[in-house]
Amino acid sequence: MKVLVVGGAGYIGSHVVLDLLQAGHAVTVFDNLSSGLEINLFEDAHFVKGDIMFGPELDDTLAAGSFDAVVHLAALKAAGDSMVEPERYAEHNTTGTLRLINAVCKHGVGKFVFSSSAAVFGDPVCLPMDESHPLVPTNFYGFTKLETERFLKWYSQLRNLRFVSLRYFNAAGYDVAGRVKGLEQNPKNLIPIVMEVACGTREKLTIFGDDYDTPDGTCIRDYIHVNDLAAAHTKALDYMAQTDSDLICNLGTGTGYSVLEVVKAAERILGKSLNYNMGPRRAGDPAHLVAAAALAGEKLDWTARHSDLDTLLKTSWSAYHSNK
Ligand code: UFG
Repeated sequence: MKVLVVGGAGYIGSHVVLDLLQAGHAVTVFDNLSSGLEINLFEDAHFVKGDIMFGPELDDTLAAGSFDAVVHLAALKAAGDSMVEPERYAEHNTTGTLRLINAVCKHGVGKFVFSSSAAVFGDPVCLPMDESHPLVPTNFYGFTKLETERFLKWYSQLRNLRFVSLRYFNAAGYDVAGRVKGLEQNPKNLIPIVMEVACGTREKLTIFGDDYDTPDGTCIRDYIHVNDLAAAHTKALDYMAQTDSDLICNLGTGTGYSVLEVVKAAERILGKSLNYNMGPRRAGDPAHLVAAAALAGEKLDWTARHSDLDTLLKTSWSAYHSNK
Protein backbone atom coordinates (compact mmCIF):
# COMPACT_ATOMS: atom_id res chain seq x y z
CA MET A 1 0.00 0.00 0.00
CA LYS A 2 0.91 3.66 -0.29
CA VAL A 3 0.87 4.83 3.31
CA LEU A 4 1.15 8.30 4.82
CA VAL A 5 2.55 8.08 8.36
CA VAL A 6 1.68 11.26 10.19
CA GLY A 7 4.07 11.67 13.12
CA GLY A 8 6.38 9.11 11.54
CA ALA A 9 9.60 10.74 12.78
CA GLY A 10 8.68 10.50 16.46
CA TYR A 11 9.55 7.78 18.93
CA ILE A 12 6.78 5.31 18.13
CA GLY A 13 6.34 6.60 14.57
CA SER A 14 9.90 5.85 13.52
CA HIS A 15 9.54 2.24 14.68
CA VAL A 16 6.25 2.00 12.79
CA VAL A 17 7.89 3.34 9.61
CA LEU A 18 10.62 0.70 9.86
CA ASP A 19 8.06 -2.07 10.21
CA LEU A 20 5.95 -0.83 7.28
CA LEU A 21 9.00 -0.51 5.04
CA GLN A 22 10.11 -3.98 5.99
CA ALA A 23 6.67 -5.30 5.00
CA GLY A 24 7.05 -3.69 1.56
CA HIS A 25 4.76 -0.67 1.90
CA ALA A 26 5.59 2.61 0.17
CA VAL A 27 5.88 5.09 3.04
CA THR A 28 5.66 8.87 3.17
CA VAL A 29 6.43 10.42 6.56
CA PHE A 30 4.68 13.66 7.48
CA ASP A 31 6.09 15.24 10.63
CA ASN A 32 6.81 18.62 12.18
CA LEU A 33 9.97 17.22 13.82
CA SER A 34 8.86 18.49 17.22
CA SER A 35 9.82 15.42 19.22
CA GLY A 36 13.55 15.99 18.95
CA LEU A 37 14.27 12.64 17.31
CA GLU A 38 15.96 14.17 14.31
CA ILE A 39 17.66 11.22 12.70
CA ASN A 40 14.92 8.79 11.87
CA LEU A 41 14.24 9.84 8.33
CA PHE A 42 14.83 6.51 6.73
CA GLU A 43 16.30 6.48 3.25
CA ASP A 44 13.53 4.34 1.85
CA ALA A 45 10.75 6.65 3.04
CA HIS A 46 9.75 9.92 1.44
CA PHE A 47 9.66 12.80 3.95
CA VAL A 48 7.46 15.91 4.14
CA LYS A 49 7.98 18.47 6.89
CA GLY A 50 4.62 19.86 7.93
CA ASP A 51 2.13 20.28 10.73
CA ILE A 52 -1.38 18.88 10.97
CA MET A 53 -2.45 22.07 12.78
CA PHE A 54 -1.69 24.61 10.06
CA GLY A 55 -0.10 25.27 6.67
CA PRO A 56 -0.84 23.93 3.18
CA GLU A 57 1.52 20.93 3.43
CA LEU A 58 -1.06 18.46 4.73
CA ASP A 59 -3.56 19.18 1.96
CA ASP A 60 -0.84 19.29 -0.69
CA THR A 61 0.65 15.98 0.44
CA LEU A 62 -2.69 14.20 0.51
CA ALA A 63 -3.68 15.71 -2.86
CA ALA A 64 -0.47 14.54 -4.53
CA GLY A 65 -0.02 11.16 -2.85
CA SER A 66 -2.95 8.89 -3.87
CA PHE A 67 -2.53 7.16 -0.51
CA ASP A 68 -4.33 3.94 0.35
CA ALA A 69 -4.06 4.54 4.09
CA VAL A 70 -3.05 7.07 6.71
CA VAL A 71 -1.44 6.08 10.02
CA HIS A 72 -1.85 8.87 12.57
CA LEU A 73 0.62 9.09 15.44
CA ALA A 74 1.08 12.87 15.67
CA ALA A 75 -0.02 13.83 19.17
CA LEU A 76 1.09 15.02 22.56
CA LYS A 77 1.31 12.00 24.84
CA ALA A 78 2.22 12.96 28.39
CA ALA A 79 -0.87 12.13 30.43
CA GLY A 80 0.42 14.14 33.42
CA ASP A 81 1.05 17.28 31.33
CA SER A 82 -2.45 17.10 29.88
CA MET A 83 -3.84 17.85 33.36
CA VAL A 84 -1.79 21.05 33.53
CA GLU A 85 -2.09 22.21 29.89
CA PRO A 86 -5.46 20.96 28.62
CA GLU A 87 -5.60 23.71 25.97
CA ARG A 88 -2.48 22.42 24.24
CA TYR A 89 -3.78 18.84 24.33
CA ALA A 90 -7.17 19.94 22.98
CA GLU A 91 -5.52 21.78 20.08
CA HIS A 92 -2.97 19.16 19.06
CA ASN A 93 -4.83 15.97 19.84
CA THR A 94 -8.38 17.00 18.98
CA THR A 95 -8.32 20.02 16.64
CA GLY A 96 -5.22 18.74 14.81
CA THR A 97 -6.63 15.24 14.48
CA LEU A 98 -9.98 16.50 13.18
CA ARG A 99 -8.20 18.64 10.63
CA LEU A 100 -6.33 15.54 9.52
CA ILE A 101 -9.42 13.32 9.39
CA ASN A 102 -11.30 15.94 7.36
CA ALA A 103 -8.39 16.20 4.92
CA VAL A 104 -8.15 12.40 4.67
CA CYS A 105 -11.84 12.18 3.76
CA LYS A 106 -11.64 15.12 1.36
CA HIS A 107 -8.86 13.41 -0.59
CA GLY A 108 -10.62 10.06 -0.67
CA VAL A 109 -8.23 8.03 1.50
CA GLY A 110 -10.35 5.18 2.77
CA LYS A 111 -8.28 3.68 5.58
CA PHE A 112 -7.11 5.21 8.86
CA VAL A 113 -5.01 3.71 11.66
CA PHE A 114 -5.21 5.68 14.89
CA SER A 115 -2.85 5.67 17.88
CA SER A 116 -5.23 5.45 20.78
CA SER A 117 -4.38 4.69 24.36
CA ALA A 118 -5.12 2.68 27.47
CA ALA A 119 -5.75 6.08 29.02
CA VAL A 120 -9.30 5.90 27.59
CA PHE A 121 -10.23 3.44 30.37
CA GLY A 122 -9.45 5.31 33.59
CA ASP A 123 -9.36 3.39 36.87
CA PRO A 124 -10.07 -0.31 36.49
CA VAL A 125 -13.36 -1.86 37.51
CA CYS A 126 -11.83 -5.25 36.63
CA LEU A 127 -8.40 -6.50 35.57
CA PRO A 128 -7.09 -7.20 33.02
CA MET A 129 -9.08 -4.64 31.02
CA ASP A 130 -10.58 -5.75 27.74
CA GLU A 131 -12.18 -3.52 25.13
CA SER A 132 -15.60 -3.70 26.82
CA HIS A 133 -14.25 -2.13 30.03
CA PRO A 134 -16.02 1.16 30.95
CA LEU A 135 -14.45 4.25 29.38
CA VAL A 136 -13.99 6.88 32.10
CA PRO A 137 -10.60 8.57 31.50
CA THR A 138 -8.91 10.02 34.59
CA ASN A 139 -6.74 12.41 32.56
CA PHE A 140 -7.45 14.91 29.80
CA TYR A 141 -5.11 13.11 27.41
CA GLY A 142 -7.24 9.96 27.66
CA PHE A 143 -10.34 12.08 27.04
CA THR A 144 -8.85 13.41 23.77
CA LYS A 145 -8.12 9.85 22.59
CA LEU A 146 -11.60 8.65 23.49
CA GLU A 147 -13.23 11.58 21.71
CA THR A 148 -11.23 10.81 18.56
CA GLU A 149 -12.44 7.21 18.63
CA ARG A 150 -16.00 8.55 18.82
CA PHE A 151 -15.39 10.90 15.87
CA LEU A 152 -13.97 7.99 13.90
CA LYS A 153 -17.12 5.94 14.47
CA TRP A 154 -19.22 8.79 13.03
CA TYR A 155 -16.88 9.28 10.05
CA SER A 156 -17.00 5.56 9.42
CA GLN A 157 -20.80 5.79 9.20
CA LEU A 158 -21.07 9.11 7.38
CA ARG A 159 -17.96 9.13 5.19
CA ASN A 160 -17.22 5.41 4.87
CA LEU A 161 -13.79 5.89 6.47
CA ARG A 162 -12.54 2.48 7.63
CA PHE A 163 -10.46 2.66 10.79
CA VAL A 164 -8.45 0.62 13.24
CA SER A 165 -7.86 2.25 16.61
CA LEU A 166 -4.96 0.75 18.55
CA ARG A 167 -5.10 1.33 22.29
CA TYR A 168 -1.47 1.28 23.30
CA PHE A 169 -0.67 0.42 26.88
CA ASN A 170 2.74 1.77 28.00
CA ALA A 171 5.08 2.02 25.02
CA ALA A 172 8.72 1.46 25.94
CA GLY A 173 12.05 0.10 24.68
CA TYR A 174 13.93 0.83 21.47
CA ASP A 175 14.38 -1.10 18.24
CA VAL A 176 15.79 -4.54 19.06
CA ALA A 177 18.09 -4.33 16.01
CA GLY A 178 19.34 -0.84 16.98
CA ARG A 179 18.14 0.78 13.75
CA VAL A 180 16.42 3.74 15.40
CA LYS A 181 18.82 6.52 16.27
CA GLY A 182 18.30 9.54 18.46
CA LEU A 183 16.36 9.94 21.67
CA GLU A 184 13.26 11.81 22.68
CA GLN A 185 14.20 15.16 24.21
CA ASN A 186 12.89 15.94 27.68
CA PRO A 187 11.06 12.62 28.08
CA LYS A 188 8.16 12.43 30.52
CA ASN A 189 7.78 8.64 30.69
CA LEU A 190 9.14 6.42 33.41
CA ILE A 191 11.61 4.20 31.54
CA PRO A 192 13.36 7.01 29.60
CA ILE A 193 13.66 8.96 32.85
CA VAL A 194 15.18 5.90 34.56
CA MET A 195 17.68 5.70 31.67
CA GLU A 196 18.60 9.37 32.00
CA VAL A 197 19.23 8.91 35.72
CA ALA A 198 21.37 5.85 34.95
CA CYS A 199 23.34 7.84 32.34
CA GLY A 200 23.85 10.74 34.74
CA THR A 201 22.04 13.26 32.51
CA ARG A 202 19.27 13.60 35.11
CA GLU A 203 19.91 13.86 38.82
CA LYS A 204 17.11 11.70 40.15
CA LEU A 205 13.78 10.01 39.59
CA THR A 206 10.80 11.05 41.68
CA ILE A 207 8.26 8.26 42.05
CA PHE A 208 4.81 9.83 41.85
CA GLY A 209 3.01 8.34 44.82
CA ASP A 210 3.48 5.25 46.99
CA ASP A 211 0.03 5.21 48.55
CA TYR A 212 -1.95 3.63 45.72
CA ASP A 213 -4.03 0.51 46.31
CA THR A 214 -1.37 -1.79 44.83
CA PRO A 215 0.94 -4.28 46.59
CA ASP A 216 3.88 -1.85 46.95
CA GLY A 217 1.81 1.33 46.77
CA THR A 218 3.20 2.49 43.39
CA CYS A 219 1.23 2.49 40.11
CA ILE A 220 1.15 -0.60 37.93
CA ARG A 221 1.44 -0.43 34.15
CA ASP A 222 1.55 -2.90 31.26
CA TYR A 223 4.75 -2.05 29.33
CA ILE A 224 4.73 -2.96 25.66
CA HIS A 225 7.80 -2.96 23.44
CA VAL A 226 7.72 -0.38 20.67
CA ASN A 227 8.66 -3.00 18.03
CA ASP A 228 5.58 -4.98 19.08
CA LEU A 229 3.43 -1.86 18.79
CA ALA A 230 4.93 -1.14 15.39
CA ALA A 231 4.14 -4.64 14.12
CA ALA A 232 0.48 -4.14 15.06
CA HIS A 233 0.22 -1.20 12.62
CA THR A 234 1.40 -3.36 9.73
CA LYS A 235 -1.11 -6.00 10.77
CA ALA A 236 -3.83 -3.36 11.00
CA LEU A 237 -3.22 -2.52 7.32
CA ASP A 238 -3.39 -6.23 6.44
CA TYR A 239 -6.67 -6.44 8.35
CA MET A 240 -8.13 -3.48 6.48
CA ALA A 241 -7.06 -4.98 3.15
CA GLN A 242 -9.06 -8.11 4.00
CA THR A 243 -12.17 -6.82 5.74
CA ASP A 244 -14.54 -3.87 5.74
CA SER A 245 -14.99 -3.89 9.51
CA ASP A 246 -13.62 -1.24 11.82
CA LEU A 247 -11.68 -2.37 14.87
CA ILE A 248 -10.75 -0.94 18.25
CA CYS A 249 -8.32 -3.10 20.16
CA ASN A 250 -5.86 -3.14 23.05
CA LEU A 251 -2.14 -3.61 22.60
CA GLY A 252 -0.57 -4.86 25.80
CA THR A 253 0.96 -7.97 27.34
CA GLY A 254 -1.42 -8.84 30.18
CA THR A 255 1.38 -8.43 32.74
CA GLY A 256 1.75 -5.37 34.91
CA TYR A 257 4.78 -4.01 36.78
CA SER A 258 4.79 -1.40 39.50
CA VAL A 259 6.99 1.68 39.25
CA LEU A 260 9.19 0.25 42.01
CA GLU A 261 9.48 -3.09 40.21
CA VAL A 262 10.65 -1.29 37.07
CA VAL A 263 13.23 0.67 39.06
CA LYS A 264 14.52 -2.48 40.82
CA ALA A 265 14.72 -4.39 37.53
CA ALA A 266 16.66 -1.51 35.97
CA GLU A 267 19.10 -1.52 38.88
CA ARG A 268 19.65 -5.26 38.41
CA ILE A 269 20.04 -5.12 34.61
CA LEU A 270 22.17 -1.98 34.48
CA GLY A 271 24.23 -3.07 37.49
CA LYS A 272 23.97 0.29 39.24
CA SER A 273 21.88 1.81 41.93
CA LEU A 274 19.59 4.61 40.88
CA ASN A 275 18.95 7.85 42.70
CA TYR A 276 15.21 8.08 43.41
CA ASN A 277 12.84 9.42 45.99
CA MET A 278 9.13 9.19 46.76
CA GLY A 279 7.01 12.19 45.84
CA PRO A 280 3.31 13.04 45.77
CA ARG A 281 0.90 11.53 43.28
CA ARG A 282 0.77 13.01 39.77
CA ALA A 283 -2.70 14.28 38.84
CA GLY A 284 -4.64 12.01 36.49
CA ASP A 285 -2.66 8.78 37.06
CA PRO A 286 -4.83 5.65 37.23
CA ALA A 287 -3.51 3.21 39.84
CA HIS A 288 -3.45 0.10 37.71
CA LEU A 289 -3.59 -0.55 33.95
CA VAL A 290 -3.17 -4.04 32.52
CA ALA A 291 -4.47 -5.15 29.14
CA ALA A 292 -6.47 -8.08 27.99
CA ALA A 293 -5.21 -8.21 24.41
CA ALA A 294 -6.92 -11.33 23.06
CA LEU A 295 -8.88 -9.31 20.50
CA ALA A 296 -5.69 -8.09 18.78
CA GLY A 297 -4.53 -11.72 18.73
CA GLU A 298 -7.76 -12.89 17.17
CA LYS A 299 -8.39 -10.09 14.65
CA LEU A 300 -4.86 -8.99 13.77
CA ASP A 301 -2.95 -12.20 14.44
CA TRP A 302 -0.81 -10.06 16.74
CA THR A 303 1.09 -11.01 19.84
CA ALA A 304 3.79 -9.28 21.89
CA ARG A 305 7.20 -10.82 21.20
CA HIS A 306 9.72 -8.43 22.72
CA SER A 307 7.84 -7.04 25.70
CA ASP A 308 9.40 -8.83 28.66
CA LEU A 309 10.79 -6.34 31.16
CA ASP A 310 14.42 -7.34 30.53
CA THR A 311 14.16 -6.67 26.76
CA LEU A 312 12.36 -3.39 27.36
CA LEU A 313 15.07 -2.18 29.70
CA LYS A 314 18.04 -3.62 27.77
CA THR A 315 17.00 -2.09 24.44
CA SER A 316 16.35 1.24 26.19
CA TRP A 317 19.74 1.10 27.81
CA SER A 318 21.46 0.33 24.47
CA ALA A 319 19.78 3.37 22.91
CA TYR A 320 20.67 5.67 25.79
CA HIS A 321 24.17 4.29 26.14
CA SER A 322 24.97 4.68 22.43
CA ASN A 323 23.62 8.26 22.41
CA LYS A 324 25.56 9.37 25.49
N1 UFG B 1 6.26 7.89 36.90
C1 UFG B 1 6.97 8.27 38.03
N2 UFG B 1 7.93 9.22 37.86
C2 UFG B 1 8.22 9.80 36.67
C3 UFG B 1 7.50 9.40 35.53
C4 UFG B 1 6.52 8.44 35.69
O1 UFG B 1 6.72 7.78 39.12
O2 UFG B 1 9.10 10.68 36.63
C5 UFG B 1 5.20 6.90 37.06
C6 UFG B 1 3.83 7.46 36.74
O3 UFG B 1 3.28 8.13 37.84
C7 UFG B 1 3.08 6.20 36.34
C8 UFG B 1 4.17 5.31 35.72
O4 UFG B 1 5.42 5.84 36.17
O5 UFG B 1 2.60 5.57 37.48
C9 UFG B 1 4.15 5.34 34.21
O6 UFG B 1 4.14 6.72 33.84
P1 UFG B 1 4.47 7.22 32.37
O7 UFG B 1 4.50 8.72 32.42
O8 UFG B 1 5.67 6.53 31.85
O9 UFG B 1 3.25 6.67 31.54
P2 UFG B 1 1.68 6.87 31.72
O10 UFG B 1 1.12 5.58 32.23
O11 UFG B 1 1.34 8.11 32.46
O12 UFG B 1 1.24 7.13 30.22
C10 UFG B 1 1.80 6.36 29.15
C11 UFG B 1 1.89 7.24 27.92
C12 UFG B 1 0.51 7.60 27.48
C13 UFG B 1 -0.33 6.35 27.34
C14 UFG B 1 -0.32 5.54 28.60
C15 UFG B 1 -1.08 4.25 28.43
O13 UFG B 1 2.64 8.42 28.17
O14 UFG B 1 0.61 8.28 26.25
O15 UFG B 1 1.01 5.24 28.94
O16 UFG B 1 -1.11 3.52 29.62
F1 UFG B 1 -1.59 6.69 27.07
